Amino acid sequence: MHQEFGSGRDPLGRYYTDPSIGQAFVSLLDRRHASSILDLGSGGGSLTVAAAQRWTDARIQTVDLDFGAEENIRLGMASAGHLAHSHLVADVLDENLPELIGGPLFDLAVCNPPYAKIRWRDGFARILSEAGLADLRAVPAEALPSDIMFLAQILRLAEPGAEVGIIVPDGLISARRSRAVREALLRRVRVMRVVQLPRGSFRGTEAQAHVIVFRNELGRGEDVDISNLGANGVSSPLSISSSAAEARMDYGYYGLRTATTGHRFTLREIHADITRGSLSSSEARECCDPVFHTNGFVQADPLAYRLSRERLGQDRLGRRIAEPGDILLARVDRELHRKVCLVIEGRAVMTDCVYRIRVPAMWRSSVARALMSANGQAALVCASRGVGARMLNKEDLLDLELETA
Ligand SMILES: C[S@@+](CC[C@H](N)C(=O)[O-])C[C@H]1O[C@@H](n2cnc3c(N)ncnc32)[C@H](O)[C@@H]1O
Repeated sequence: MHQEFGSGRDPLGRYYTDPSIGQAFVSLLDRRHASSILDLGSGGGSLTVAAAQRWTDARIQTVDLDFGAEENIRLGMASAGHLAHSHLVADVLDENLPELIGGPLFDLAVCNPPYAKIRWRDGFARILSEAGLADLRAVPAEALPSDIMFLAQILRLAEPGAEVGIIVPDGLISARRSRAVREALLRRVRVMRVVQLPRGSFRGTEAQAHVIVFRNELGRGEDVDISNLGANGVSSPLSISSSAAEARMDYGYYGLRTATTGHRFTLREIHADITRGSLSSSEARECCDPVFHTNGFVQADPLAYRLSRERLGQDRLGRRIAEPGDILLARVDRELHRKVCLVIEGRAVMTDCVYRIRVPAMWRSSVARALMSANGQAALVCASRGVGARMLNKEDLLDLELETA
């Protein structure tokens, strides 16, 4: 199997679901009776064991490529007292998976797949078309990570009307680049609900993820319920239209919109000019002029930020300078949502980890205050991506919904 990972990541994406989330996960599914359950990428069985406890009479099929997972899942199923279980050690991305599993189709599936970039294989075209997702062949192969291919395999193995609960990464639910995938999914299946999970739901990663619950029947533009799993359980759902769901389906975004009370605007609507700084870290170290980087957001009054009054040396092509009237915001940082300031004095050359936001003078203070408010910070967290160090894309910043006080 060819997977490309950044260093330090588990090559099989073995970030197991916390057992308490497994219990909450199965409670999100509607089906009262299930006769056969499928779990692709079952790992040690956090989802399967919870499913076995809820649907005690069901026949359960688990599949995982990791030999080490087999013993754990057998032990978990034995302790749940569930005997109607078979486990297969196999590659879920194998186009012949239905033949390897054999037997009738499933009426329920649970899944927490690995989230990884995978190289395109010839068999994927067949998998997508037999899953009814042939439209996805038009999207670039890099937009089809392992979670989408797992989902396609589930659809090949699910009977019409089967209910599926799958844990997917935040990018699939909210990123602009995944819009074509969301559109294809909303046409192919009937998405019932999307539930945002708390960070820390998986061992070994802080990744943000969501559960999508859908039925294996064609989507007909129905509304989608979205909610949030928190310390007090699942929040009351908000209903969003199918076209809103194509744009994004995360509760973090829509929940915030309904909670706002002031005048809402986006930086795009007010024609903000957003520029990313230019200096790399090595250029910043060698630069003789005052430099502004993400470690510079330290002054007590972020609405009256004073940069150095030193004169800058001769302007060099491509250098991006911050000056009075500019709002500065960290572009890359673990705490970027807290790193905002409005410059009232001085100048500095910006590093490429900082955005400069220029808006008409009448808007400056409102925009800076809106970004610094609790809702603004929450919107920045929601719009930024990444585990650990977070990164904010310029297009997402332009579309961030802000609210005047
Ligand atoms: C994110 S873990 C989830 C495990 C378990 N379902 C849970 O929720 O705790 C993904 C699982 O997929 C398995 N996996 C990764 N790539 C696979 C592949 N190509 N075929 C089968 N299993 C795979 C890993 O071994 C791992 O157990």
